[in-house]
Amino acid sequence: MQSSKIAGIGYYVPKNIYTNDDLSRFMDTNDAWIQERTGIKERRFADRLEETTTTMGIEASKIALERAGITAQDVDFIVFATLSPDYYFPGCGVLLQREMKMKEIGALDIRNQCSGFVYALSVADQFIKTGMYKNILVVGSEKHSFAMDFNTRSRNVSVIFGDGAGAVVLQPADREGQGILSTHLHSDGADAEILAMYYPGAHANKWMRDQPGYPDQELGGLFMTTEQLESGAALPYMDGPAVFKKAVVKFPEVIKEALEANHLGPQDIDLLVPHQANLRISQYVQQLLGLPDEKVFNNIQKYGNTTAASVPIALCEAWEAGKIKEGDLVCLAAFGSGFTWGSALIRW
Ligand code: UT7
Repeated sequence: MQSSKIAGIGYYVPKNIYTNDDLSRFMDTNDAWIQERTGIKERRFADRLEETTTTMGIEASKIALERAGITAQDVDFIVFATLSPDYYFPGCGVLLQREMKMKEIGALDIRNQCSGFVYALSVADQFIKTGMYKNILVVGSEKHSFAMDFNTRSRNVSVIFGDGAGAVVLQPADREGQGILSTHLHSDGADAEILAMYYPGAHANKWMRDQPGYPDQELGGLFMTTEQLESGAALPYMDGPAVFKKAVVKFPEVIKEALEANHLGPQDIDLLVPHQANLRISQYVQQLLGLPDEKVFNNIQKYGNTTAASVPIALCEAWEAGKIKEGDLVCLAAFGSGFTWGSALIRW
């Protein structure tokens, strides 16, 4: 079956840099705590009015298309991963299609949070394998800053996340053994609520009925009440330590699964590009796999956790820095809300 290769890659990060000290102007936090627990030194935040998840995705896409040597009109399918879309619906895929003046091609939106890009890549890979499409644009983009609460009550969440976008063009590989060797995707919804944003949502469960201001009426009113909005119920929620514990198990598990499926071992990896959730998670995974520093790429220090954008931004920076050469074995891995997690093994 025809495998797929990354023919072009690009990323975009907003120019506004917020250091840890900058955040301490808004909430009770400090540089030492953030660096020690997460490794993050600074992050980028999009322009509040001018930039959106889609516009950042477009900037990254333009670079990926140029490097692939194709134009927007050559793209025959879009897969767009984000948890922070411009609109509740429709998704960013069609907005990108419109703004980039693409043909009336299919546009698919992926809602898989931190593992969104790995899921998106896997979906695109299947379309190339079956021969259905030849030029697929895969985008991961996030504008977290619009929905975060820059107050002490949300400090465990708001110091971690940043904005940005990454994109790749997937095309049929040129030769046998090149490109995406395999992808492995997983989910376990048992703990869906411990890293989540509940509103707006259609969940009329008991938990929601107990919230202050829940409207006592026959129809409607499930969206969000003013009281819920004011109480902070519409903000992202994360039980950080619980997510951390699960992540350090699932990251190595899904990397080993990918290696075993290809009859390879950790020593064969030339570069591991893990989702940038927390430097401590990456370091733990690195240690467990016995990989030296030069075989693991981290850039969370500069950008924080950019969720669906983190893997393509890191992959692109690593490639631009000359850390990926033809024939290298590159492993992508991600874990996040859902929980969902996955890996992709690529022969560059
Ligand atoms: O990519 C999506 C997946 N997400 C993740 O993978 C996140 C995984 N989890 C984590 O990265 C870590 O759990 C965090 C970085 C979120 C938190 O680090 P932690 O070492 O697990 O800290 P904690 O939540 O157990 O909090 C320890 C203390 C608490 O104070 P007390 O109760 O000990 O007095 C928090 O209130 O640190 C406090 N704290 C803060 N202090 C200063 C929480 N956030 C902050 C903050 N600044 N920003």
